[in-house]
Amino acid sequence: RNPEEGVDNRLTAVCTLLQETIPYYDWVGFYFRNGDKEELKLRSFAGEPTDHEIIPFGRGICGQVAVSNKNFVVPDVKAQDNYIACSIHVKAEIVVPLFKNGENIGQIDIDSHTADPFSQEDESFLEWVNEKVAEII
Ligand code: SME
Repeated sequence: RNPEEGVDNRLTAVCTLLQETIPYYDWVGFYFRNGDKEELKLRSFAGEPTDHEIIPFGRGICGQVAVSNKNFVVPDVKAQDNYIACSIHVKAEIVVPLFKNGENIGQIDIDSHTADPFSQEDESFLEWVNEKVAEII
């Protein structure tokens, strides 16, 4: 039995809980650095499946957060040049980096079908979620 499986199930449960509880969280996923490669890999999610399971560092909102180590709130995805569209329904996105022992090892990514829904409260909440997740991975 693969010990990573238990962690994967718990990460998926976190995604599902967030997606089902918060009305404007339409897609919730965790990306992590893919080994030593300069890319992110999708590990768990809730919502529609995405074609973008691998994202090179620097590309899209996710890839930019992998190198900036900073939260990225996008109130209107149409206004972004460096953006990877996953669904035509998505209007806004938030990506918050996940740190373990001070290192940016991944991120939580949330897409919304609502325009400009994310506040400072979402940022603080998702930072807290990531701190909890860092304790179990
Ligand atoms: N929109 C993201 C790609 C991931 S999907 O939202 C699931 C981006 O621009 O990096």
